[in-house]
This record gives sequence, structure tokens and C-alpha cells, in this order.
Amino acid sequence: MPRVRCGIAVRGALGEGILTAGFHRVAGTLHCDGVPLDALAAQVGTPSYVYSAPCIREQYTLLAQAFAGTPHRLHYSVKANSNLAILALLQQMGAGVDIVSGGELFRALRAGYTGSGIVFSGVGKTEVEIEEALAADVLLINIESEEELRLVNDVAGRMQRRARIALRVNPEVTVDTPHPYTRTGEKGMKFGIPHDEAVRVASVALGLKNLALAGLDMHVGSQISLFGPYEMGLQRLLALLEQMRAAGATEIRYVDIGGGLAVTYDTERPIDVAQLGSKVSAMLSGSGLQLIVEPGRFIVGNAGVLLTRVLYRKRSGGKEYVITDAGMNDLLRPSHYNAYHRIEPVKAVEGRIVADVVGPVCESGDFFALNREIGDVSAGDILAVHSAGAYGFVMASQYNSRPKAAEVMVDGERYGVVTDREGYDDLVKGERVEPRWTSL
Ligand SMILES: Cc1ncc(COP(=O)(O)O)c(C=O)c1O
Repeated sequence: MPRVRCGIAVRGALGEGILTAGFHRVAGTLHCDGVPLDALAAQVGTPSYVYSAPCIREQYTLLAQAFAGTPHRLHYSVKANSNLAILALLQQMGAGVDIVSGGELFRALRAGYTGSGIVFSGVGKTEVEIEEALAADVLLINIESEEELRLVNDVAGRMQRRARIALRVNPEVTVDTPHPYTRTGEKGMKFGIPHDEAVRVASVALGLKNLALAGLDMHVGSQISLFGPYEMGLQRLLALLEQMRAAGATEIRYVDIGGGLAVTYDTERPIDVAQLGSKVSAMLSGSGLQLIVEPGRFIVGNAGVLLTRVLYRKRSGGKEYVITDAGMNDLLRPSHYNAYHRIEPVKAVEGRIVADVVGPVCESGDFFALNREIGDVSAGDILAVHSAGAYGFVMASQYNSRPKAAEVMVDGERYGVVTDREGYDDLVKGERVEPRWTSL
């Protein structure tokens, strides 16, 4: 049995007594903090994402403590879970954000962040997005190519501003992530400025009068459990920094090591953040640099589950199937990344089966687990798909014209819906039966 990922003692939301936060069983029923998930599913329906606020706070605090040895800023990576309630919760904890689109900027501002708490990453920012970021006076725009550098300079000039930028360098380190799609810092990838061009691009930046070269940045990949790739990448950034300073870059004061910190889905090792923090602090000691970290999954991954109802059982070709009311449109990770998610019935059941747990979408790739030993569940039972807090709802779609699930936040013994379940009207929002014909 894998260990509980987030099971911490916290004060009840109403202040009375201690309860366990995160996902744990009480008398055979899975709870999120103090809320029984069968009763919650009956209230809010399925499929629903459920997040534990204390778990999110706990993960944030762990990171803040881990990096306490060096001046640092934690910029939560909005792409992992962009729900406004989660953004606001982290803002109250003191976090900044890392965004990758104008839409994420809009969310961050709506949740209460100001420009000084926002770092803008992303390989393909549009001119409009750059304008929006400069209008919001974001802390840094992470530049990924020389063309983007020149565009940011032009836009800043037009807006009579000096844009603070960091160069996102491809550190060209090999990483061992569970899936190739989550590697970003290897040679030849689309992300970042190639390592051997970084000093030249820095010189170009120094010659552009509307830019302040204030930082260096990298992101080696996602679900990284070892210190090695961060160490090698950071060493490379620091070596580049020296060359850039020698070439006249006097304003660089931020070094951003990206996100990617691993969590436990199954039996794999989460990253030892205390060790990472102390090693990075030692590497930066005396440098005068401020560290930026952009964690996404580490903060929210194990703070969420997807609740889904079993619709049917069936046998086909000697195989057992459990068919659920959530599908790949709700949680894409198993089919897109071949990702493992622990699945268990919310109410304990007698007996075990080996089955494929599949959704209702008309695709053979619509599954949550293949050949998996799980409880002997029946139609009507509620399943919890664990570790669904990161890259879950944010990757959801309406494929097969399926309205998107609800999202619920739990905090101690209370819960609140933080995204309403979509209805059929949401499926056709903006569409029209009769085209608005026009001629050019
Ligand atoms: C630039 C950047 N920063 C941070 C992250 C967050 O990664 P993770 O959720 O693995 O921490 C990503 C994820 O792809 C990213 O591309």
C-alpha cells in the first residue's frame, strides 16, 4: 500500500480540535480532510475534482522552508492548476506566479496578484500578450529566442517602458523523466535559447535600450526526482552569468531554476526538497543573486483527486472492464503520458478484481488504468483517482461534447465549489447555427 502522500494534522476549519488533512480513511470511507467523499459526491455530483487546501499550504510551506537558506521567491506555475481559488490561496501564502499565456495573466490578476509577483514564461508569446505583460509591469519576461528579444524591445519602446527580462537558456542536460513529453532542457528542444548562443544573445540584449537584462532562467523538465539535473543546469547558468557580466551585464540579479520537482504517484521517489534547497543555497551563497523557483506539480499534484462514478461493469474477451462517468476529456494524463494514477473506491468494498478502468469517450485510448488490481466495485460506487491536482482539470476538454467537471475545495470540515459543473449551454457558447456571413 503506497504511503499517504498528504496526511497532516491540522486544526479544524472551525477551530475545534485536530483532524487529518489530505486523503485518508475514516471507518472505511475515504475523506478529504474532514469531509467524507461519498457524501460530497452525492452533493456536488460526479465527475468532480476535489482539492485539499491544507495539503496545498503544507507543500508550499515545505518549499519555503527548504529554500530558507537563500534569498528566494516561489512562483507557482499556474499551468499545473489555474483555478482562481488555488491561485488566491497561494497568493495569501506569499507566493508569486509563473505564467505562460495572456489567459494565465488574466487569471493571476483576477486572483489578486500584481505585476511584481508575476514571471512570464513561454516559448511563443504573441505581441498582444507581451503588451499585456508590460502593461501589468510583470517582474520578468523570460525570453526564449533572439526574435522574441527584439519584439519585446520594440513593444517596450512603443509603450515607453524598459522591460525587465531574463534569458531562458536551454541548459542542455539530460533528465530521466517518466515520459519524453516532460523533458524540456535537452539539446535541440524547442524551449530556451541554445546554450552556445546565450552569451551572444545577452550582448544583443545589452545593446537594446528598452530592455533591462535582469535574470537567467532554465526549466529542465517535469517530475524530476534527482538533484543532478538542477545542479548541472545551475552550474551552467552561473558560468554563463560570469561571461555575461564580463560582457557588461551588470543588472542580472535573478536566477530561475524552473519547476519540475517530482511528487509520488505510485512508488517513485519524490524529490528531497530540503536537500535540493540546501545544495542550491550553497551554490548561490555570496552571489548576491535572488533565486526563483517555479513549482507546479509539487504544490498541487497530491492535493487533489478526481471523483468518478462507476456506470457499468462488463466482460469482453476474457477481460474485466469498469466503465466510469469521467473520461480522458476530464483527466488526460493516463492516455497522453501513460501516467499512473492510484484508484480506489471511496467506500471500502469486499474482494479484488483485475480490470481496465475506462471512460465513456469514443476512443480506445480513453482509460485511467489498464490491467489494474482494484476493489471489486459495482455500478453506482464512487472511485477516487488520486494525484489529480496537477495537470488534471487544466487539460480537460469538452471532447465528445461532454460538459466539464466541477471543482471543489475542501478546508478542514467545510467545502466550497470553486468551479461550477458545466451544462449543455456551455458546450455551444459562442457557436451559431447560422453563420454571420460577411464578404472581404
Ligand atoms: C517554464 C516552466 N516552469 C515551471 C513548470 C512547472 O513544472 P512542474 O509542474 O513540473 O513543477 C513548467 C512545466 O512545464 C514550465 O514549463
